Amino acid sequence: MSISIGIHDLSFATAEFVLPHTELAAHNGTEIGKYHIGIGQESMSIPGADEDIVTMAAAAAAPVVARHGSDRIRTVVFATESSIDQAKAAGIYVHSLLGLPSATRIVELKQACYGATAALQFAIGLVRRDPAQQVLVIASDVSKYELDSPGEATQGAAAVAMLVGADPALVRIEDPSGLFTADVMDFWRPNYRNEALVDGHESINAYLQAVEGTWKDYTEQGGRTLEEFAAFCYHQPFTKMAYKAHRHLLNYCGQDTDNDAVSAAIGRTTAYNTVIGNSYTASVYLALAALLDQADDLTGKAIGFLSYGSGSVAEFFAGTVTAGYRDNLRTDANRAAIARRTPVDLAGYRDLHERSFPTDGGDHATERHTSGPFRLAGISGHKRLYQAR
Ligand code: HMG
Repeated sequence: MSISIGIHDLSFATAEFVLPHTELAAHNGTEIGKYHIGIGQESMSIPGADEDIVTMAAAAAAPVVARHGSDRIRTVVFATESSIDQAKAAGIYVHSLLGLPSATRIVELKQACYGATAALQFAIGLVRRDPAQQVLVIASDVSKYELDSPGEATQGAAAVAMLVGADPALVRIEDPSGLFTADVMDFWRPNYRNEALVDGHESINAYLQAVEGTWKDYTEQGGRTLEEFAAFCYHQPFTKMAYKAHRHLLNYCGQDTDNDAVSAAIGRTTAYNTVIGNSYTASVYLALAALLDQADDLTGKAIGFLSYGSGSVAEFFAGTVTAGYRDNLRTDANRAAIARRTPVDLAGYRDLHERSFPTDGGDHATERHTSGPFRLAGISGHKRLYQAR
């Protein structure tokens, strides 16, 4: 009998500031309905000057390590597409901030928003090889588009930390997976740019093609039928995308796409992404957190996951919610992470958006913004300096 492996714990963190979409709409003359209804976004998290993917990741992972200890964690896989270094893995800074054992392997993974799902699947492989070990999977991203571009309304920032192990307390991840790769230029970020480039409408089409492609492969691999799923967690660059994707899947399968059916499958997965914005790698797992925190008892129910990363790679897979999962949720902390953000006005947001460190190798301290547990204190000699706050 194959052992049960999956998500044993899940915790997330987001940024210090929040920009309501009403501020952006007032600035650019957009009818607010386009943001609230058209793309399904209310606000977006904006990192402070002393926050980045490392500080959010460490804040997300610290409660996981506090609850379970680090004795069984021998691997940390850090998925991101807003990397801070071309060589050193961001997870090494997290390892240091959290005081993890030196007998740990750490690596960073990249494939746009899909990276965390690759990390989860690789983690499952490691646990299958030695079920006594646990893998800390971290997804952390800051989504940034150019000011006054159509993508600007779909920015955001968050980190999710997941402990992957045998006999998981939350969700057992199943075989098979449906896979799909296509070489498309829908969204990309050359090494010399801070902001992503995107062909917005092409990216939506590419995502929908990937939904079809993964489902086709999932079915051919002997996966579950649509009717067996209680809910679907989609990658949510903006929450309306999950609705578009699910309608597309139902159409593709020749099923009714009435609003009630779509809302029943998606409705409880969007609560966190709609106020945090696009968190790239973390987004699909924020959808899972929202679902587990809000839904009626899901014990024994199957959840479908659709992870999409531009460029593009996608994967559809299923998870089954385990008995007693509610005792292991972090619902209060999750809500507090969102509620504690400080509203920022448009001028403050634009100032933060345009900041970057000088590249002269000098000593540059950051302003104190974060009220989170870790901060990026500055940069010195081209080295980033992190500290517990
Ligand atoms: P846009 O072109 O400015 O918006 O930008 P639009 O004109 O397409 O309008 C959006 C929706 O609002 C439309 O609904 C309008 O009808 C509606 P739809 O036809 O799509 O159902 N609308 C209104 N609704 C109510 N009241 C109103 C109103 N006005 C209009 N008054 C776009 C939209 C998403 C393209 C842009 O924000 C963008 O480029 N975003 C970035 C790209 C993106 O998020 N793509 C998603 C798929 S790719 C992906 O998920 C991967 C990604 O996460 C990256 C990665 O993998 O790393 C991005």
